Amino acid sequence: MNSLAWSLIRTTERAALAAWPQTGCGDKNAIDDLAVIAMRQALNDIPMQGRIVIGEGEIDNAPMLYIGEQVGSGTGPGVDIAVDPIEGTRMVAMGQSNALAVMAFAPHGSLLHAPDMYMKKLVVNRKARGAINLAHSLSDNLRNVARALGKPLSELKMVTLDKPRSQAFIQEASALGVKVFALPDGDVAASVLTCQPDNAFDLMFTVGGAPEGVLSACAVTAMAGDMQAELIDFCEAKGESDEHRQIAADERRRCAEMGVAVNRIYTLGELVRSQDILFSATGVTAGDLLQGISRTNEGVRTHTMLINGIDRTCNIINSLHS
Ligand code: FBP
Repeated sequence: MNSLAWSLIRTTERAALAAWPQTGCGDKNAIDDLAVIAMRQALNDIPMQGRIVIGEGEIDNAPMLYIGEQVGSGTGPGVDIAVDPIEGTRMVAMGQSNALAVMAFAPHGSLLHAPDMYMKKLVVNRKARGAINLAHSLSDNLRNVARALGKPLSELKMVTLDKPRSQAFIQEASALGVKVFALPDGDVAASVLTCQPDNAFDLMFTVGGAPEGVLSACAVTAMAGDMQAELIDFCEAKGESDEHRQIAADERRRCAEMGVAVNRIYTLGELVRSQDILFSATGVTAGDLLQGISRTNEGVRTHTMLINGIDRTCNIINSLHS
């Protein structure tokens, strides 16, 4: 994968640069479309035989970067691609912080195939590797992570998404004295912030998108952290109704076609079956992980984080686009 690093950086940069001028426009679909088009053009210039494994959705609903789409010049290494052109489209649309353009490259056959549905995710960094088990309660996991890190529960920091479905987790963690940080959106950034050596958080626990879960697993693998995940259907995430039952039935059918199971716990090694991972994220709006895009006298500046699973490096690339 190493030889593709610069191409990957340029790809997330181009998506971020395409979306950024629309910050605050209020239309998240328009923002996503601009990023998708830019990303696809950049991908097709790369000497690889690429295949979208985690993308914009099914072929019927996504004209570009759909699951199964072949991208790249058609020569070179076989690469499985996980992509979220804009992680936090709502944040860009509303002019809020923490939006990223994100993509990961992995060898063919090494990423879990997952439809666009909800996923329960638990992430810790390398110091707490082996201390998590999604089959156990959140309280047990918090106690075990605190023990592994050698700190009291009152010093443990958990990050999650501030969604109605998170409220029970937030109450459970708070009742133990754990400090809870609930972000409006963006669990990929939260997972990376948890796995960095100078980690802002000790544990990321939420129910969010499965695509974002596999993308996060790429970064967690490359940073030698730990993660477990469980696909959950729409009714479990959003409550029972006739409409939700129909969505859940479609999700279960799609999972069966893809060879994955709902309510089965996947370990990190099952989510990502290779260490040869490249993960790139470019900041669109300013955030906790990366600076956003800014205009200078000489041009436009981007900040990109490249994480390499083979040499375990994490570089921040500060680029001036003139
Ligand atoms: P997108 O902008 O790519 O849709 O994702 C933002 C996000 O907050 C993810 O980080 C998270 O996994 C997901 O949305 C949660 O979904 P929902 O908005 O349905 O709660």
